[in-house]
Amino acid sequence: MSFAPPPMSLLAELTHRCPLACPYCSNPIALDRRASEMETADWLRVLDEAASLGVLQVHFSGGEPMARNDLPELVRHASKLNLYTNLITSGVLINDTTLEALDTAGLDHIQLSFQDVDEAGAERIGGLRGAQEKKLNAARLIKARGIPLTLNFVVHRENVARVPEMLDLAHDLGAGRVEIAHTQYYGWGLKNRALLMPSAEQLEASTEAVVKARARFGNSLAIDYVTPDYHADQPKPCMGGWGQRFVNITPSGKVLPCHAAETIPNVVFPNVATESLGAIWQDSPLFNLFRGTDWMPEPCRSCSLKEVDWGGCRCQALALTGDASATDPVCARSNQHALVMEASTAGHDGEFLYRRFGAI
Ligand code: FES
Repeated sequence: MSFAPPPMSLLAELTHRCPLACPYCSNPIALDRRASEMETADWLRVLDEAASLGVLQVHFSGGEPMARNDLPELVRHASKLNLYTNLITSGVLINDTTLEALDTAGLDHIQLSFQDVDEAGAERIGGLRGAQEKKLNAARLIKARGIPLTLNFVVHRENVARVPEMLDLAHDLGAGRVEIAHTQYYGWGLKNRALLMPSAEQLEASTEAVVKARARFGNSLAIDYVTPDYHADQPKPCMGGWGQRFVNITPSGKVLPCHAAETIPNVVFPNVATESLGAIWQDSPLFNLFRGTDWMPEPCRSCSLKEVDWGGCRCQALALTGDASATDPVCARSNQHALVMEASTAGHDGEFLYRRFGAI
């Protein structure tokens, strides 16, 4: 086993509790309950271990991470360890008091998620009445404090037509960055894929809107744009390569190479309760399962792009083919590429399955 350089980013999923119910949530279908969440002392130790390992950035996420009262304490500890701290939040629990506590603790950056620019559209996805107003207010409070702000929009066939207004809103609220991310189809997103999948025409229009906004806003607004895999023929380097740059810790302490890894069968998921983060990163069978290129089947193994896309996404390969070690079917060279094309043009009937505890 060769030595793996340390991860750059740690995603700390502090809780799966959340007042919203988005049907594309990146949390697993089997959500961790409050009783299984790690205690404050456990997270403090994990942050120490992350800093020793060489992690540079900590993203406090959830669920809704502000549902944890110890968030300011965790941010303060991470700041003392010289870790860059980012909060990924729905913003519905932000007010003057909660924001001041985070600001005083040394929080470096906030990523504020929006479901839409349209209030009815936002409530249809998030399922929380009045959330849009709270988010707008949160953005203004964050700006007033001078905390760097990114707006996140997950887009799909119901809201993708409003990408131009999303970009305008980010600019008007004074965000330095906005992420327009087409839905990824794992977990809840996969369950709701038919209702979320944009058409090729919708994708083209959203790409054009991003190009125009980049020209219009220039350096005043950085725009990250994530396209949907299912309309592509070249896989993305998911997580920058399995076990190469990114580590995810769940509320109950499981350590994963990506947020959807728990779908992979017949592997043991290591936990920081019983092993150190460094040992898990370096030596665990899970992190070494698809690290590098030795695991790759043909045609990946002889592909000139194998160290560019690192074989694409293992969870997507599993979801579509039933085999996590298969060539990502997004790749045009996969003999199962038709699965992606069929899914991207399938019908759009049904009702949303909302992300709620016990929804399935
Ligand atoms: Fe797991 Fe892409 S989400 S490898």
